[in-house]
Amino acid sequence: MCGIFAYTGSKNAGEVLLDGLTSLEYRGYDSAGVFTPESGVVKAKGAVNNLKRKIPSGYYGTSGIAHLRWATHGEPTEENAHPHCDCSGDVWVVHNGIIENFKELKDALMKKGHSFQSATDTEVISHLVEEHLKSETNFEKAAIKAINELRGAYGMVLQYKKDPSRIIGARLGAPVVIGLGEGEGFVASDASPILRHTRTVVFLNDGEIASITPHSHEIFTRDSKKVDRTPEEIEWDEAIAQRDGYEHFMMKEIMEAPEVVRNTLRGRLIVEEGRAKLGGLEQVADELQAVKRLIIVGCGTAYYAGLTGEYMLEEHAGIPVEVELGSEFRYRSPILDEKTAVLAVTQSGETADTLEAVREGKRKGAITLGIVNTVGSTIARETDAGVYNHAGPEIGVASTKALVSQLTAFALLTMFLGRQRSMTATEGKEIAEALQALPEKIEKILEQKDAIEKLAKKYAKCRDFMYLGRKYNYAVAFEGALKLKEISYVHAEGCGAGEMKHGPLAMIDENFPSIAIAPSDSVYDKMISNIQVVRARKGPIIAVATEGNEGIKEYADDVMYIPDTIEMLTPILSVIPLQLFAYYFAKEKGLNVDRPRNLAKSVTVE
Ligand code: F6R
Repeated sequence: MCGIFAYTGSKNAGEVLLDGLTSLEYRGYDSAGVFTPESGVVKAKGAVNNLKRKIPSGYYGTSGIAHLRWATHGEPTEENAHPHCDCSGDVWVVHNGIIENFKELKDALMKKGHSFQSATDTEVISHLVEEHLKSETNFEKAAIKAINELRGAYGMVLQYKKDPSRIIGARLGAPVVIGLGEGEGFVASDASPILRHTRTVVFLNDGEIASITPHSHEIFTRDSKKVDRTPEEIEWDEAIAQRDGYEHFMMKEIMEAPEVVRNTLRGRLIVEEGRAKLGGLEQVADELQAVKRLIIVGCGTAYYAGLTGEYMLEEHAGIPVEVELGSEFRYRSPILDEKTAVLAVTQSGETADTLEAVREGKRKGAITLGIVNTVGSTIARETDAGVYNHAGPEIGVASTKALVSQLTAFALLTMFLGRQRSMTATEGKEIAEALQALPEKIEKILEQKDAIEKLAKKYAKCRDFMYLGRKYNYAVAFEGALKLKEISYVHAEGCGAGEMKHGPLAMIDENFPSIAIAPSDSVYDKMISNIQVVRARKGPIIAVATEGNEGIKEYADDVMYIPDTIEMLTPILSVIPLQLFAYYFAKEKGLNVDRPRNLAKSVTVE
């Protein structure tokens, strides 16, 4: 999830663009870059301030493009920072997204003599436009032809030195907003950098391309048909625009879950063969085939993702798995060897306890792997190989979309390791198809958010909650409880439903509700027995159940429904209503959901 911003008009483009990047900074901070046809390109590693320090005095222009990078392909170096150009230095591009077919496009372009300066997928776009400009002198038309060759996801802006006042924006799966001012135009990944100049905007739809000059704008479909769209007036302020109109980043990030699953899966499923293609693991594929034991390490939410991953991997990939808290693993003299893989799960890639667990694994000769969201982070660099989640930056302190992407990555890893072992193509195909269907199913859950808000309000006075789950939803119970306690400061406990009778049941009374995660799976009947035991002690029950299960209402006071899916993927659906419940519960209490007290987003201390 990078930030893109472009300007054409009569003001000093350098200043407008740098100013705009500052309000987009939450979208990425790996590197920043700016280009104007008059003064050229300047790039810097790190945040916008580093770029500002590098801008020479007298840097100017009346149009230009700018970018903040959240790395997906290629390390977060200055070389890989956008904007990127073609061989001639005339065609420039900034891009947010992933070009799935970049490898084949790059190979074909190299055969035609193009030379590349970066390791990014983005750079192919400028070279493709250059290629089309050989037979099509009109920049707009050449750009549309190039865009038509791309597969994947993009929000992008193109600029051509020989048509300098025109900026071309395009959208497919990554947001793009056009701003229309008096004698000036803008393109950005959200409205926040535009609002200080104009409130008149056009939101591009997927597959649309916009050609903008200071006094005109036209929108086309990918097959060059003109689109007639009335501009809208935005009432939001800049901070709300950063959150796409949501009150909190946490809510925005929960709502991003369908897109996040698409991004984690993008280009990685070979459905017909029932296989997962994980480029980051290819180089260690032989070692992984020989691995006899996998130890997953993580902290907090990432640890719970690992616990769910364990169930997926043992049942479907047939590999023995242990899951450990980073903070315990490193101090307890684990026995490791070269037939063991230590897999770190981490959103930030910087969590000190997880990092030290990786180092302990290395010291003892294990292969080290990562499921990491932040490209180029310490853990991504120090592990031997890994899978990036592609969830985009997570700003809310409570992890939501990162967990969804971690679980999706575990499903992919299960297919990858499973097909190396006993998993049949038929089984692989069943998982692949179920994964592909997840985004729409999550969308259906998100549609129930108003009902979940009402539920959270109904229980807002309660001071204690129990979360119950079994098998695949065992760890979801702990995650649901963690979400509630960290943003609401009420007592919430996760418990394996079968464990209640061994102690926790003593706490239950009519003021102590239990949230029972009870999809229609292989342990459903056991869950119902556990629920009845709680009900017998007058404990209120809120159930998470599979759509169509009306019978659950006999045992539960309230129900949140999730669509049906294969058992191993139920956690990816069941965790969403729990995230929404925690969010609305904390909001009802008037708490700062995005910045819970005492907590930090990245825990780089032990
Ligand atoms: C909870 C939460 C934390 C993190 C944990 C690990 O909502 O966000 O429990 O999951 O601190 O962080 P990463 O994934 O960055 O290693």
